[in-house]
This record gives sequence, C-alpha cells and structure tokens, in this order.
Amino acid sequence: MYVLFLGPPGCGKGTQAQHLAETNSFYQLSTGNLLRAEIEAKTELGQKMETLYASGKLVDGDLVLKMVQKVVASEGAKSILFDGFPRTVNQATAFGSFLQSIDKKFDCVFSFSLADSEILDRISGRMTCADCKAVYHTKTNPPKTEDVCDKCEGKLVKRTDDSRESVKLRLEEYHRETEPLKEFYKKENVVFEIDASQSIEAVSKQISNEIEAISKYKGNKEKTSGTYSRR
Ligand code: AP5
Repeated sequence: MYVLFLGPPGCGKGTQAQHLAETNSFYQLSTGNLLRAEIEAKTELGQKMETLYASGKLVDGDLVLKMVQKVVASEGAKSILFDGFPRTVNQATAFGSFLQSIDKKFDCVFSFSLADSEILDRISGRMTCADCKAVYHTKTNPPKTEDVCDKCEGKLVKRTDDSRESVKLRLEEYHRETEPLKEFYKKENVVFEIDASQSIEAVSKQISNEIEAISKYKGNKEKTSGTYSRR
C-alpha cells in the first residue's frame, strides 16, 4: 500500500509517520529526513542543499525525485508512507508517471489541516532526537528526561530550519506550492481529511482505522466488484 501525508510544516506528519512505521510496518520515506542525513554527512548533495533547506525554501525538485525513486526501487514491495513528497504539482505529475510505470498508485492521501498560529507553537517547542529522529514537543509530547530521547537515549536537538524566519517562509511555500495538491489528488478520489488540531492519539486512531478499511478492501478486491469510494 502506498500512502501520502500531505500538510503544512509542523502539523504532525512526522509524528504520525513514525507511529505508523512502528505499528503497521510501513516504510517511512521522509524527504526531509533524507535531506537532513545528506546535510549531516556533508555529502556533495547535502552541501548543495544546505543553505536552501535552512532558509525554509523548497530544494531542487528533480534531485528530490531521484532520491525518492531510488528508495522506491529498493523498498518497492513494502508498504510505503510518503512523508513530505510530492509537495508541488510538478513533483506530483512527474512522480505519478513514475508510479504508473511500475503499476502503483497512492491508495490514500491523508490531508492534514492546522491553523498557521498553532503551527508556530508546535514548531517552536519541537525537539528531535539527533540519533533515531524521534520527534518530541516540550509541552505536548515531552520526553521522560529533559533533552534525552525515550527510545534510544540520544540527545534531543532543534532543527536548523526551525527558526521563526524559516518557518514563515516554509508556510508561504506550503500555501503556494503544496496546498494545491489537495485538489490535484481529490480528482483521484483518494483524499482523507485530517483535523490535525486533535490530540496525537486521536489522529493516530483515525489514520489506523482508514488504513485498516483500505487493507480490508484490497484483501477483498478480487471477490467484489466496483470501486472503493472513500468519501
Ligand atoms: P520536512 O522535514 O518534510 O518538514 P515539513 O514538511 O516542513 O514538516 P515538519 O517536519 O516541519 O513537520 P511535521 O508535519 O512532520 O510535524 P511533526 O510531526 O514534527 O521538510 C523540511 C525541508 O526539506 C523543506 O522545507 C524543504 O526545504 C526540504 N524538502 C523536503 N521535502 C521536499 C520536497 N519534496 N521538495 C523540495 N524540498 C523538500 O510535529 C511538529 C511538533 O508538534 C512536534 O514537536 C510534535 O511533537 C508536535 N505534535 C505533533 N502532533 C501533535 C498533536 N496532534 N498535538 C500536539 N502536538 C503535536
């Protein structure tokens, strides 16, 4: 099953993606995490992307597409959760052609909504594990011990793109480049709306229920006729 998380920065995509990877054996394909790994390792690609990334602008879509296709080629048989890609109509169109060429498609696009004011609160309190990349929040999702990851005891750090200026730019990029994707995927009848202002647990439950419904449908597909209508 291929699933996409679509939503503004800080709405909880990464938090839910990690949960789904742990509980439903999805492979989490986060383009943000892939880019951060390149930057940390100071690879040629990482050095090229670092300034744009830290400023909050989108990086070169062709390079991101190549990175994603490489991962899909190696993980293709598994269920994949796409976290942060595609995030422009151009990326979605190019990736759609690629998926078609390997006889795949998105089974569901979870579209997260959250007010900009709440996004700023969430990002200003975010801490990420430097080792396993688990995500915390100083108020809403604190670690048991301050600055220490519950899962691997790694050090919790702030992301370099979480400055106020960068978040402002990321929000502008989101509204201009990524939000139109909701209409793009609505035409494919695969969009499931998520009110991201709910608790982490409530959002997880909604996502798990929908994944379960799709799994059942896919399992029964050969026995039934017609199209699965989500909404
Ligand atoms: P990326 O890493 O994908 O960042 P993003 O999309 O901006 O999203 P975030 O990771 O900031 O937020 P999130 O929704 O995952 O929220 P989280 O779970 O952490 O991309 C970063 C950059 O990489 C881009 O700006 C761009 O430069 C580049 N890039 C990536 N993909 C690209 C592409 N396809 N093309 C071009 N460039 C690309 O949660 C946030 C906080 O809220 C946490 O503290 C969490 O604990 C807390 N929280 C989560 N859920 C809840 C809840 N329900 N209630 C209360 N608190 C909550």
